[in-house]
Amino acid sequence: MKKRVLSGMQPSGRLHLGNLLGALQNWVYLQDDYDCFYFVADWHALTTGYADTSAVAENTRNVLADWLAAGLDPERSTVFIQSMVKEHAELHLLLSMITPLGWLERVPTYKEKQDQIKDRDLGTYGFLGYPVLQSADILIYRPAFVPVGVDQLPHLEITREIARRFNHLYGGDVLPDPEGLLAKFPKVPGVDGRKMSKSYDNCLYLSDSPELNDKKIRTMMTDPARARRTDTGNPDVCPVFDLHKIFSSDDERSYCADGCKTAGIGCMDCKKVLITHVLALLEPIYTKRQEYIANPRLLEEIAVAGSRKASAAAAETMSAVRSAMKLP
Ligand code: TRP
Ligand code: SF4
Repeated sequence: MKKRVLSGMQPSGRLHLGNLLGALQNWVYLQDDYDCFYFVADWHALTTGYADTSAVAENTRNVLADWLAAGLDPERSTVFIQSMVKEHAELHLLLSMITPLGWLERVPTYKEKQDQIKDRDLGTYGFLGYPVLQSADILIYRPAFVPVGVDQLPHLEITREIARRFNHLYGGDVLPDPEGLLAKFPKVPGVDGRKMSKSYDNCLYLSDSPELNDKKIRTMMTDPARARRTDTGNPDVCPVFDLHKIFSSDDERSYCADGCKTAGIGCMDCKKVLITHVLALLEPIYTKRQEYIANPRLLEEIAVAGSRKASAAAAETMSAVRSAMKLP
């Protein structure tokens, strides 16, 4: 039997190349060797966005379309939506009973996000309990591995602590503690050279047309010292070259690096090589995504079927949890 993998993402809008390389592609590969569960964490979006919920459903559909287009395969994996599997809420409630407040107050993201987000009141029960809900999301599937970014490691650590506390209090090994799995490409530069991020408006989106992404790369920031074609440049300080490190072959990379340092090639020659690679990756995803977006029925069917499968798996853990806790 294959070991289980579980991961989730908050639906905060359309996904970009950074999400694809940093997380999603890894999720796609894991499908070959693991029994994978992937879900859209729409309840988690409410922990900060509770006052205006108008975009949650649409963002959830967009993320789902991005996932399927990128190669998450509902035939092989269980792809679902958190709010459609009510067992998450039940386990969240039970785990909240055994989670000391001090553990939650000490999670670094708790203070950080409160400092970051000033326009909303995050002094809520739900926001403090974010990691308990996440723990329930994870432990309810008893996965061996949870592929996440480094930012999620504190949440995974508290998940493991909660699992151990549960097992200690109620006996046995009902909730095995899972391990994190870090992705290969944690940092992808955006078109302005900063880390690719929705909040910087510097992204190549999976939902952008090939023409738009072509244009974005053509106008992407380069080594500022290469203002003219005749100026030499330094690939080490150029975000275009950072993308070459991800996408291009050794030969292409040395062609670009040498041409840059000697002004033998122009930035557009260098970018053209990159554009070919980026579009070869993104164009098929874009095309497939368009089909899902044009067919909301199909998206819904996939979400319903996946959530039913997830629910069945979650129900098994809940029986074991209730019985360990001697609940009726
Ligand atoms: N907190 C995660 C994020 O912001 C989303 C998430 C919710 C998650 N539940 C999870 C990730 C369970 C992994 C496992 O990206
Ligand atoms: Fe950057 Fe390439 Fe231009 Fe050099 S040639 S500055 S690496 S885009």
